[in-house]
Amino acid sequence: MRFSLSSTGLQEWNGNVLAVGLPKGDVDSTATALERRFAGITEILKQQEFKGKPSDQLVITPLSEGPQRLVVLGLGDADGIDADSLRGAAARAAKASIGCDGTLGLQLPWTGTADADAEAARISAEAVRLCLYTDQRFRKESDPRRSPDALELIDLDPAAISGFAAVNATCAGVELARELVAAPPNVVTPAALADTAAGIAGDHGLELKVLERSDCEARGMGAFLAVSQGSDLPPKFIHLIYRPEGEVKHRIALVGKGLTFDSGGYNLKVGAAQIDMMKFDMGGSAAVLGAMRSIAELKPSGVEVHMVVASCENMVNGSAVHPGDIVTAANGMTIEINNTDAEGRLTLADALLYACEQKPDAVVDLATLTGACVIALGDEMAGLWSNNDGLAKSLDAAAQMGGEGLWRMPLRNSYKDGLKSLLADMKNTGPRPGGSITAALFLKEFVAQDTAWAHIDIAGPVWSDKGKGVNPAGATGYGVRTLVNWVLAQS
Ligand code: BES
Ligand code: MN
Ligand code: ZN
Repeated sequence: MRFSLSSTGLQEWNGNVLAVGLPKGDVDSTATALERRFAGITEILKQQEFKGKPSDQLVITPLSEGPQRLVVLGLGDADGIDADSLRGAAARAAKASIGCDGTLGLQLPWTGTADADAEAARISAEAVRLCLYTDQRFRKESDPRRSPDALELIDLDPAAISGFAAVNATCAGVELARELVAAPPNVVTPAALADTAAGIAGDHGLELKVLERSDCEARGMGAFLAVSQGSDLPPKFIHLIYRPEGEVKHRIALVGKGLTFDSGGYNLKVGAAQIDMMKFDMGGSAAVLGAMRSIAELKPSGVEVHMVVASCENMVNGSAVHPGDIVTAANGMTIEINNTDAEGRLTLADALLYACEQKPDAVVDLATLTGACVIALGDEMAGLWSNNDGLAKSLDAAAQMGGEGLWRMPLRNSYKDGLKSLLADMKNTGPRPGGSITAALFLKEFVAQDTAWAHIDIAGPVWSDKGKGVNPAGATGYGVRTLVNWVLAQS
């Protein structure tokens, strides 16, 4: 999408759809400015009882020359306008523009200072592009829906142009993640994820290693391989590396859960467990692949990024893991699999061990790990667990910047008792209460003692049934913006 600052003000702006935000209490003065361009608009706003509340929205087709569509958006109290409300307003403008092509013009109550306006430009542009995304890959005939392909922001400080710099690369990463998550499990297989990594490596000159089953066996990845053994599809252990030009100041690892389908195994998902949605169980790997796609394009300096995904399916056949099997992870730790549906943590155990071998300064894993996290935080927030306060803070800031909900959760050590096994070093599943916490405590066992680590459980926000804010219904691409912002902040 093309982003620019309009060289004209509201009165002369001449694109296809014009969207103007009106805060509460400011309706009269802005309406007067609009009236000069669109005679009669004040009367219409009055008739509609438009007060500038966030629920107020007016879409009209002006009869005069100029834009084919005028959108007036209520913004609520003027002093309550912040990054999130700008993002929301830009998203509403984008949705209201669907059906028109060409250029969308957007005027919101910008602050008028260079830094704040650059941030507002970034937020608005990101919101508009993410909102207009549609997925037509699986239809016989694609829907000929029209939408703008350019955004012009009206009346911003000229320095705000810098805010656009990373937007298209970031959104391309989010869209890649959405496409991977939305695609069905007969399309996005472990091999398809490896191919996606190869595509990124080929396009941008990144380094790629794919470990096959035999390589994983040689490395003793018994936890990962146990999950994959009931599937007809071969597992793929994917390691993609971005190396910056010049000196490396930080080395980081991004680990993603890559279950391309999770049937639950012999602890089969039944009842309300929504087995049909378990194509999204590779949402963590989609987020790290999406982030790598963006990073590869943005080429941040000083930071080396290792992406690690242990991808497979959790299926049932005669070779599948039995509930009760004891397996050995790559560090020799034995695990009693008391529930085959707690498979993500088994794959992540070997992935985290491998990631730590790269000697990173920080490891961040993303996983659709537990239904318990969805119960705790709903579908707008991911849970964050970390052994390092600095890392947790920097991830929180990155998530805020991207408008992605993230909430820190406790690594309560005493809950580890729930993972005690009679026979093995650990069980993979603890009691139901606090289930997302024991899952995080399980992962922690596979992270090197002195390594800063964070675990993000994205089981809720990976998917949006109805769509909300910048997310159309379906796959959200959650995590890409947080990771990209976080990596850029390290450079
Ligand atoms: N992939 C699921 C987690 C999940 C469940 C994500 C629902 C999104 C919605 C994970 O592999 C799983 O099955 N977790 C179990 C763990 C339990 C057996 C300890 C769960 O959350 O029920
Ligand atoms: Mn499962
Ligand atoms: Zn799973």
